[in-house]
Amino acid sequence: MPESLAKIGIVTVSDRASRGDYEDRGGPAIRQYLEEVLTSPWDGIAKVIPDERDVLAQTLIGLCDDVGCCLIITTGGTGPAKRDLTPDVTEQVCDRMMPGFGELMRKVSLEQVPTAILSRQTAGLRGTSLIVNLPGQPKAIAECLDAVFPAIPYCIDLME
Ligand code: MTE
Repeated sequence: MPESLAKIGIVTVSDRASRGDYEDRGGPAIRQYLEEVLTSPWDGIAKVIPDERDVLAQTLIGLCDDVGCCLIITTGGTGPAKRDLTPDVTEQVCDRMMPGFGELMRKVSLEQVPTAILSRQTAGLRGTSLIVNLPGQPKAIAECLDAVFPAIPYCIDLME
């Protein structure tokens, strides 16, 4: 992780949460998880956006290139529904993919729910930013991050 203040993007991708039809619980769950595991200072930049390809692409690009986030964690939009586009847009904006993240998160999630196979969640690198997708269910956040978080600070160090 950077020596200076690490900037971390937290992106909730949900039509209904972005319209205010229901409260975003995924973004706050990611923030709480990071507060518990990170020991050095960090600044979280949270966004709640609809499942729109262009909005998501611009949000991810802005957080990587303009804000300079070393890590961006998304929640939602990873399933098979027509409007689930998060993994596709992640791949579109990344220079290189890190398929091991999705593979491991699905493996551990399958021990919790058989429907874990429905998530297309992935991860990739754009410049010196790591983007990691999580499913939309708030309980999936700790289930997935517990498995992959040990590798994240090292991954970020290797990219610098
Ligand atoms: N992974 C975990 N750990 N826990 C879950 O409850 N739900 C699954 C799957 N992965 C789930 C999970 C379900 S039901 C779906 S449809 C997909 O994630 C995609 O969810 P999303 O479209 O909200 O991202």
